[in-house]
Amino acid sequence: MEKFRIRGGNAIKGRVSISGAKNSALPCMAAAILTAEHVILHNIPYVRDIITMRRLLEDIGAHVLTPELRTHKISAANIEVMTAPYELVKTMRASVLALGPLLARFGKARVSLPGGCAIGARPIDLHLAGFTKMGAEVYLEAGDVVARAPDDGLVGAEFDFEKISVTGTENLMMAGTLARGRTTINNAAREPEVRDLAELLNKMGARVRGAGTPRIEIDGVEALGGAEHTIIPDRIETGTFIVAGAITRGELEIKDCNPEHCNRIIAKLREVGVEIEEVNQSTLHVSAGKKLKAAELTTQAYPAFPTDMQAQYMTLMTQANGRSEITETIFENRFMHASELQRMGARIQIGHDKAIVEGPTKLIGARVQASDLRASASLVLAGLIAEGETTIDRVYHIDRGYEKIETKLKAVGADIERVRESVTSPLSPEEDVAAA
Ligand code: EPU
Repeated sequence: MEKFRIRGGNAIKGRVSISGAKNSALPCMAAAILTAEHVILHNIPYVRDIITMRRLLEDIGAHVLTPELRTHKISAANIEVMTAPYELVKTMRASVLALGPLLARFGKARVSLPGGCAIGARPIDLHLAGFTKMGAEVYLEAGDVVARAPDDGLVGAEFDFEKISVTGTENLMMAGTLARGRTTINNAAREPEVRDLAELLNKMGARVRGAGTPRIEIDGVEALGGAEHTIIPDRIETGTFIVAGAITRGELEIKDCNPEHCNRIIAKLREVGVEIEEVNQSTLHVSAGKKLKAAELTTQAYPAFPTDMQAQYMTLMTQANGRSEITETIFENRFMHASELQRMGARIQIGHDKAIVEGPTKLIGARVQASDLRASASLVLAGLIAEGETTIDRVYHIDRGYEKIETKLKAVGADIERVRESVTSPLSPEEDVAAA
């Protein structure tokens, strides 16, 4: 079991490059199932969830080559089985993204039902109701979701999402590309990752309109072909590094990002006193500014402030003057980092969907535990400013979605190292049900 050991107190200074967005790369890799031709994806981040998705694709018979670092060349010409096994789904919920493409191209799919996870119940009822409306028969068998399309394929349908779902939108959008007639998704997720997927699908010959707006229309086509596509930069990694620069009173140039996708994150962090300059279309310059001040925050679907930045914001607010009320509206049970931050000295009251942070407080290094991907990032940020040494257990959570975070932080002056524990830990990553 690996952990991070951080000695706090260094201002981080220098240049950091942002990797491709995990949450865009995952659906784009799944989209390769929709065609027998090659799909070539560039700027794939080197993170654990990508390795899991690659294993899933290979498990069902696809070939995945990496001609260059961060490029995947996927061929789903010879898919043999239409099943995503429990072993993969339980470590990564995004495995459900295989359902839509398998069902659309092969007329059948079997994916283990993801269970509860560290950040709440997270059902997939919207995905399943969608496939049913497209004519599929969907049922549960031995813990698996089994879906079967009618003999002549899925039919386009109109959906009104009662809740905005990112992967739900992506799954139905992919299913719609090969369905007969038009599929319409109302109250669709507007995340840049949804738009990125639509762009890839259109390059493959799909007819998707309106991605990035609340209404997406897809006119089904007979078949899709190969395509080449570059994944957008990771906006959550960008936001995390902005906070890292600000919280350590450092100065950072953040390269290879897309500031436009980070509008609300940037606006909120400016509001609390962080100085952020847009140097150009792919570079931000961050400095700490004078004093940080408290401000309330509510997470919401894009374009509002993302739930995936809530934990990092909470750590920042432990250093701000005043009382910040943080409301989490997307997931229940996404404050697990708060109790770990308390152990480091943070003053946080935790309610059902609200946390109140009183700042500023001096954080003291402690042994803490990562519980999900973004929670781990918030603990790393806390460790960077804590007095003394912080040890973060279960860093495999952070490896799921941040590419070499310790290497990137070290390069800009942080005192952080990855260490291997000699004693056997009670839980292996495979046993610990995962989050994203
Ligand atoms: N929901 C339902 N029914 C459904 C689907 C969703 O009730 O069928 C609910 C969820 O329980 C949740 C809300 O709708 O309360 C939003 O969930 P959504 O489906 O949007 O989440 P997701 O698609 O499973 C993606 C990201 C998450 C990110 C959320 C919200 C991927 C692979 N994952 O998850 O990323 O937090 O959207 O923006 O795109 C992360 O990267 O750390 C991460 C957790």
